[in-house]
Amino acid sequence: MKKIFFTGLFVVLSCFWFSAQLEVSAKPFMVGPDKCQKCHKAEHAVWKGTKHFKSFKKVHKNKKAKKIVKAIGEKRMKKAAVCANCHYTSVKKKATDKKAKLVAGPSCESCHGAASEWIGIHNNTKVDKAKRFADAKAAGMIWPTETFDVASNCMSCHGLANENLSGKHATAMLDNGHPFNPDFEYVEYSQGSVRHRFYAPKMTVNQEMTEKQKAEIYIIGQSAAMLSATQAITKTTHPAYVKGQKKRISNATAALNKIKAMVPEAGAFLSSPSKESGRALAKAVKGKDLTGAIGASLPKSYK
Ligand code: HEC
Ligand code: HEC
Ligand code: HEC
Ligand code: HEC
Repeated sequence: MKKIFFTGLFVVLSCFWFSAQLEVSAKPFMVGPDKCQKCHKAEHAVWKGTKHFKSFKKVHKNKKAKKIVKAIGEKRMKKAAVCANCHYTSVKKKATDKKAKLVAGPSCESCHGAASEWIGIHNNTKVDKAKRFADAKAAGMIWPTETFDVASNCMSCHGLANENLSGKHATAMLDNGHPFNPDFEYVEYSQGSVRHRFYAPKMTVNQEMTEKQKAEIYIIGQSAAMLSATQAITKTTHPAYVKGQKKRISNATAALNKIKAMVPEAGAFLSSPSKESGRALAKAVKGKDLTGAIGASLPKSYK
């Protein structure tokens, strides 16, 4: 009787153990840019020319970095999880690995989503495109066509809005000279060094956007910044932080007001900013010519 009980208990417990393991292994982790390079050589070459790439060997040596790290109670930037959230690509071999290895600054998966669960799905062109798209997305991929999500993702790092960053740490960072640029504008920052647009039919050419396309993503960038700021502003009452988040909101409000009459979704987003209303706005501006309303706001040069 006792033996049956214990065997039963063992079976039940191992079921829990196995399901816990499965849950862990379904959580996406980063595999690193070398894995992408094999098939995406042109994009990898562009990335190597960016500050995102160059930062890995540099930023921790910065005097300011040392001061900021100390202020959050750590010794080295490359060992501080707080900094890794935005500055590094932390790679694992398998989900159960306790330690992740820092292999680069912000890289492919910082912008396209941690790839462990989608790398083998997204490229399987034998599978129907809609299904492949949906499956990879469910596994954590941010497809370039999901423009609002792509822009929102930049904003979590560039707006000091990362969800894993506590108010206490944001305060200590700002008090010790960490930069915060509330005027990070999506067109200016995405169409310079970072741009990789090797689309068919001219797959070998890194294509520049037309003014019309720039105007479209200008609006998407502003709405993404606004949602990011709205969600982050309660993190801390630190005056510089609150002021910066308010600036992001006022920049976006001014931009969206310029197209409100043409695009009702802009008004809907302003009165209730959310992921859903942001995606609806991105869909509404797709293919529209907004250059008349906001052409003058487009940047003259790029980062
Ligand atoms: C074994 C080859 C291979 C590897 C490895 C690979 N990819 Fe891809 N990737 C592809 C192919 C093929 C496509 C095009 C699929 C299609 O036609 O829809 C693609 C498409 C993409 C797209 C969408 C392109 C578009 O036009 O919308 C992105 C983004 C992307 N890959 C990122 C990555 C990242 C990031 C990694 C590394 C984590 C990676 N890929 C690794 C082969 C690969
Ligand atoms: C929420 C994301 C985020 C976190 C967390 C974060 N940083 Fe940053 N950091 C950035 C961004 C974005 C920039 C670039 C800002 C700009 O130029 O507008 C930056 C810039 C810097 C710079 C200036 C680099 C230069 O080229 O002048 C230093 C130094 C720095 N960070 C150190 C740290 C340290 C140390 C930590 C950890 C305590 C940390 N950061 C945490 C996002 C972050
Ligand atoms: C700073 C964020 C960022 C990083 C880092 C980044 N991407 Fe992208 N990627 C984007 C954006 C934004 C687009 C959409 C471009 C467009 O459609 O205008 C894109 C588009 C793409 C595309 C489709 C267009 C093309 O060039 O074929 C592929 C494939 C891709 N990225 C792969 C990669 C790979 C591989 C890496 C790493 C070597 C990488 N990306 C790094 C943001 C990023
Ligand atoms: C994981 C966090 C993260 C994400 C996501 C991210 N960035 Fe960055 N980005 C940084 C950090 C950190 C720096 C500063 C690096 C340094 O100075 O050492 C930076 C720097 C840059 C720079 C260089 C700015 C300059 O003054 O030279 C550009 C341009 C840039 N990012 C554009 C983008 C765009 C566009 C996106 C989204 C498509 C994006 N980034 C997404 C973290 C991120």
